[in-house]
Amino acid sequence: MKKLNTQVVIIGSGPAGLLLGQLLYKAGIEHVLLEQRSAEYVAARIRAGILEQVSVDLLHLAGIDQHLKQQGLPHSGIEILSHGTKYRIDLSALTQGKQVTVYGQTEVTKDLMQARQQEQLSSFYEAQNVQIHDFDNAPKVTFDYQGEQYQIDCEFIAGCDGYHGVSRASIPQERIQTFEKVYPFGWLGLLADVPPVADELIYVQSKRGFALCSMRSNTRSRYYLQVPLTDKVENWSDEQFWEELKLRLDPESREKLVTGTSLEKSIAPLRSFVTEPMRFGKLFLAGDAAHIVPPTGAKGLNLAASDIVYLASALIEYYQHGSEQGIEQYSQKCLQRVWKAERFSWWMTNLLHDFEGDTAFEKKLKQAELNYILGSEAGQATLAENYVGLPCEVEHLRQLLVEGNCQKAS
Ligand code: APR
Ligand code: PHB
Repeated sequence: MKKLNTQVVIIGSGPAGLLLGQLLYKAGIEHVLLEQRSAEYVAARIRAGILEQVSVDLLHLAGIDQHLKQQGLPHSGIEILSHGTKYRIDLSALTQGKQVTVYGQTEVTKDLMQARQQEQLSSFYEAQNVQIHDFDNAPKVTFDYQGEQYQIDCEFIAGCDGYHGVSRASIPQERIQTFEKVYPFGWLGLLADVPPVADELIYVQSKRGFALCSMRSNTRSRYYLQVPLTDKVENWSDEQFWEELKLRLDPESREKLVTGTSLEKSIAPLRSFVTEPMRFGKLFLAGDAAHIVPPTGAKGLNLAASDIVYLASALIEYYQHGSEQGIEQYSQKCLQRVWKAERFSWWMTNLLHDFEGDTAFEKKLKQAELNYILGSEAGQATLAENYVGLPCEVEHLRQLLVEGNCQKAS
């Protein structure tokens, strides 16, 4: 058994774990990152692509926003196509100038992994059989790596290992409460090197079901179709995908749509899920390990980022100022923002998708609500305010990092 010790062990090399690692490095806090998959596998995963300003600011604080600045696409609005009528939601006008940035999570992950490699930060990819021990008192993490058994003694463990990870699974049932809603459909996603059908995202509500027209750049597009949970991706040829998408679009978009060969095609289930609390002694859950949102509100990556704002701040306050206030408040601060994003994501999903189980009355009510939202400045403003992202304490984290650098310099 090889024994190591460090201050923080991060489990998971997704956006949450990588962002935390970069911020701890910036603050001079020792950490080790463990990931069960290979670095190549992690870097190749196709995920979402919308960054709230909070996430853009965090990537800047982490010092890895060079590519984002060059390739990110600022968007000041989205379109909602409701049964053939298009409405533009002017996000910036409705939120005193806020916007979102189109930049793939894949790119975020690659940027963070590249920074990690350049800074030669301690990472174990393809770490197997990761186990958490004694997280209330003297935390330890054991794992197998290249045929050797390892044990890392640490002071804190950040469970950034996603919905299927070991961290949440390590919590005794009596200490954890989970809340879940599974949706009766999935999203069939397709990525292709074709120009986007429009300059901004189009959320489509049609009698054939939901569709989403998104993008990764001006030459790479991402499309989604609501499909039954019984559908299999192998039953969808590219041609069938494009034909179904056209049937859900308005005539103008149908005419402009450029189709092509898929680079990636997959079906993802939709669920809402929250774990309470998000801290257990010296073990913190962050990102998908603690919560899942349906992708309709583009909140998954952005919630992982806001958890890391609070977790990085808490750990820096502890190590730089000996304060445990951030640690004590971590769960409550995260969950306040998490539940508001869960509500928004559930609400957008509810309004824009076709729910077979809805009664005729419920369908009428949903359409009336969407018509109200789209036809009212107040209604559009509430959608815009949530879509660009609710407030988060990034400025506090920035100040902690600046103070830390000043202390180092003095
Ligand atoms: N040991 C080590 N690593 C693990 C383990 C384990 N037992 N279980 C899971 N992991 C790794 C996964 O392989 C993955 O790389 O943890 C990482 C978790 O990353 P994500 O699932 O991306 O979660 P997170 O970092 O919270 O980012 C959330 O990613 O999945 C999307 O839609 C989601 O946009 C959201 C974002
Ligand atoms: C994406 O581009 O993958 C995307 C964009 C907006 C969403 C969901 C996914 O709401």
